[in-house]
Amino acid sequence: MARGLSRPSIINTRTARNFIYKLMEKNKTLKLIVTGGAGFIGSHLTDKLIEAGHDVIIIDNLSTGKKSQINKKAKFVKADIRELTKIKPHFKGVDYVFHLAALARIQPSIINPVPPFEVNVQGTLNVLIASRDSKVKKVIYSASSSSYGDQKSLPLKESMMPGFKSPYSLTKYVGEEICNLFSKLYGIKTVSLRYFNVYGPRQLTTGAYATVIGIFLKQLSQKRPITIVGDGTIERDFTHVSDVVKANILAMKSGKSKNGEVINIGAGKKYSINKLASIILDFSKTVSSKETELQARLTGYVPPSYIHNKQTASATRLDPVLVTAIKEKKVVFIAPRPGETRQTLADHSKAKKLLGWEPTITLERGLKDLINK
Ligand SMILES: NC(=O)c1ccc[n+]([C@@H]2O[C@H](COP(=O)([O-])OP(=O)(O)OC[C@H]3O[C@@H](n4cnc5c(N)ncnc54)[C@H](O)[C@@H]3O)[C@@H](O)[C@H]2O)c1
Repeated sequence: MARGLSRPSIINTRTARNFIYKLMEKNKTLKLIVTGGAGFIGSHLTDKLIEAGHDVIIIDNLSTGKKSQINKKAKFVKADIRELTKIKPHFKGVDYVFHLAALARIQPSIINPVPPFEVNVQGTLNVLIASRDSKVKKVIYSASSSSYGDQKSLPLKESMMPGFKSPYSLTKYVGEEICNLFSKLYGIKTVSLRYFNVYGPRQLTTGAYATVIGIFLKQLSQKRPITIVGDGTIERDFTHVSDVVKANILAMKSGKSKNGEVINIGAGKKYSINKLASIILDFSKTVSSKETELQARLTGYVPPSYIHNKQTASATRLDPVLVTAIKEKKVVFIAPRPGETRQTLADHSKAKKLLGWEPTITLERGLKDLINK
């Protein structure tokens, strides 16, 4: 070998080989499963994966998902993740699995804790078994920020001990632990993405599985008063669905996270429900005060004192839009609900470091887009 020219090291050769594999994978059509692909987040994720040229199999039992949301280019398997024998054959030859199917809300889980344990725990175990047996490259699991419960400090970091305030939050955490255990025990790659209050087009607007933004926008569109739970001071970190979809795709591609990694996916800014209502009310001038009074009488809830007291209202630093709306009876305060954490706010530095993920859509912009549509 000529002087000055060094022999290529093994590390360099391996790095080059990995780089070439990555390039090949980049342009390859992948075979993917999205469980819960007929649901709110899963349908958006499916659309993006298909747009990128991949083959997607949706596994969904349509319990909360909708047929109309299923991408026509996806293969749809109507099946229940609680039935391993029914779902397992579809995992053959699959590269990556996005596991979103779940009974995904707090309140119904408090009323009846059995179904969320069956779906979110047994169902997740089945998805992991099927993925392991078919040698899937990675399972990307949809976890929940509700597993933090009430912590002493903010922002919420992945290293914090979990705390559970509802069966739902516990089942979602058990799902993370199943992923972690399968990674350690069987070597299957997994990553758990803890979402913080996801919103966007297709979110459920009615029924027990509706989310707060969905409910507010529905009430707005029907010219009904906005119903704020409790005193409206609980705070949430709202994350746009398109940012959550991006996180999933980055998590599929990323080689940086270790097996069983848990990563926060949240916008990193918190808003009280009162503030959220103010932003939404700002776009609206159309609420019937008669309906508001009727609703208040029907719920029988005694609203916070600042509704009647202008001075307290400013003392609690309510947005002027909300103060006016309260006076004009455009909002109704209804009884607080159990199981809700006081505050959520994501520390998303790990997502940035490991996935190169950052939120791109502010709540104000996301809401404007939703209302304009
Ligand atoms: N939306 C949020 O704010 C949020 C926050 C944190 C975590 N997550 C998680 O994200 C995931 C998706 O949530 P989403 O908001 O899109 O909910 P969603 O209810 O719209 O979607 C869930 C989907 O799973 C399907 N499903 C339910 N049980 C099933 C079963 N037994 N077998 C097969 N399919 C079944 C439903 O039909 C539905 O299509 C869930 O795992 C949820 O826990 C959501």
